[in-house]
Amino acid sequence: MSGLLVKIFISAISIFLCLQFTCADKYCYKDEEEPYLFFATKTSYEFIYNKSPLEEVPGCEPAQIWFVTRHGTRNPSDDELRPLQELNPLRDEIMRNHDLRNNGELCYGDRENLKKWQLRTGKTMENTLTSQGQSEMRLLARRMRTNFPSLFREGYMEDKFVFRHTEKPRTKESAEIFAKHLFGHDRISIPKGDKNDPLIKSYDACKNWDKLQDKSEAFKEVKLFEESNHVLSLIGRVSDRLGFKYNLTLDKIESIYDMCRYDKAWNVTATSPWCAAFSKDELMVLEYLYDLRYYYKAGYGHEINVKLGCPMVKDMVQRFRQLAAELQNKGQAPSGRSQSSPRGVFYFTHSKALLMLLARLGIAKDGKTLTHADFSSTSALGRKWRTSMISPFAANLAVVFYNCPTGREGPQVMMYLQEKTVLYEGCNVGLCSWKSLEAKLASIADNCDLKFCEPGWSSAPRMSSSPLLLLSLVALFIASYLII
Ligand SMILES: *[C@@H]1O[C@H](CO)[C@@H](O)[C@H](O)[C@H]1NC(C)=O
Ligand SMILES: *[C@@H]1O[C@H](CO)[C@@H](O)[C@H](O)[C@H]1NC(C)=O
Repeated sequence: MSGLLVKIFISAISIFLCLQFTCADKYCYKDEEEPYLFFATKTSYEFIYNKSPLEEVPGCEPAQIWFVTRHGTRNPSDDELRPLQELNPLRDEIMRNHDLRNNGELCYGDRENLKKWQLRTGKTMENTLTSQGQSEMRLLARRMRTNFPSLFREGYMEDKFVFRHTEKPRTKESAEIFAKHLFGHDRISIPKGDKNDPLIKSYDACKNWDKLQDKSEAFKEVKLFEESNHVLSLIGRVSDRLGFKYNLTLDKIESIYDMCRYDKAWNVTATSPWCAAFSKDELMVLEYLYDLRYYYKAGYGHEINVKLGCPMVKDMVQRFRQLAAELQNKGQAPSGRSQSSPRGVFYFTHSKALLMLLARLGIAKDGKTLTHADFSSTSALGRKWRTSMISPFAANLAVVFYNCPTGREGPQVMMYLQEKTVLYEGCNVGLCSWKSLEAKLASIADNCDLKFCEPGWSSAPRMSSSPLLLLSLVALFIASYLII
């Protein structure tokens, strides 16, 4: 009799524990050993950059580094803040769904984390760097000094190092921290940022680009994906998992996603309870949704985005041309002393500007135009346009010009994206002869202006650019003259 009581007691206890705590068969995000970390443009740099030291280029010495970086991890913008604050009442609702209504699938541990969660940012911090963002810039600068010691050996000189940032506080702060840790002091000349910088934020004053952003036709692939089964079933599943009897809006789901990825980027060792709302497959769907948005906003999706990348390509080509000429005139003396060009050029800008630059260079270009129909969780990982990889926080492209006095092929250029060698087309395992790279980029650099931004600009060929057209006009003119 008492044995039976003990048995009943034990099973009652285990049922109670099972309800309160994690049952062996219930999935808990907080115990996930391999959480999915690729969150499109809000991915942490920590999970993306190449952590091994760069290899030296035999027989060559770096003569200049031309560097473009996105700012480090930031706080939410003004626009983003309100939807994130509205997660507080949503959280309470999710707790009630589980505790009172017995709906929802979050495990006990994930619910406990959600209960403790709070938004640790306020209006005063709007859009500034977080401490993680500051540390990204600090460590990036230190690694650069280690990877290219000869460029920085002689310390800071105003005419040898160029810094430029946009007018935003987060790029200014990024530049200041980076410069300070590159040289070990803060007596560095960093000019004030310009509004509408035509070089490092070319899209800012581009009226035609602006107009495109408001055209729903320009983003129809994004819309089609938002209405696809991938996204609709995600909405249904996430709503279920959080215990709602109705479907949350896509906007709400995106706020949850934003909080999940901000939390992770702000503290890379912590687990955001909001990420527990999604399965890995669902995170891949959201990643693709954002990849598509950026593809049409700042990538290969529209020709104007690609064109807006040309001012920076032009700047790079012109600087390297000058450097190549100097090195040739000075009889290829060992780099440094004889060179009047800068040794380092550092630009601090935003994700869209970096993506446009990459597009102009032809980096991360897929064989076909991306559409709503191109998502599948396996092929997604094979695509080149993945903003998680190419534009996380602190994403950067370093283009290094190498003087190679002993080699016969002249100077070489290497590109590093997130400190990883770019296997650039037409180059040898990433090593490009300057001569061939210049030939490839010359027409982009030499035909670069921002006239296409002006209303009324048409892409019809100008007469002078088409000898045949000019010839036929002359013939027509002569013909009409003869007839008269
Ligand atoms: C929620 O969305 C899913 C997927 O579209 C659908 O199957 C389901 O019926 C919707 N649920 C409600 C309550 O509308
Ligand atoms: C990040 O999260 C870990 C684990 O939750 C915590 O111990 C640490 O204090 C957090 N770091 C910061 C800077 O908040």
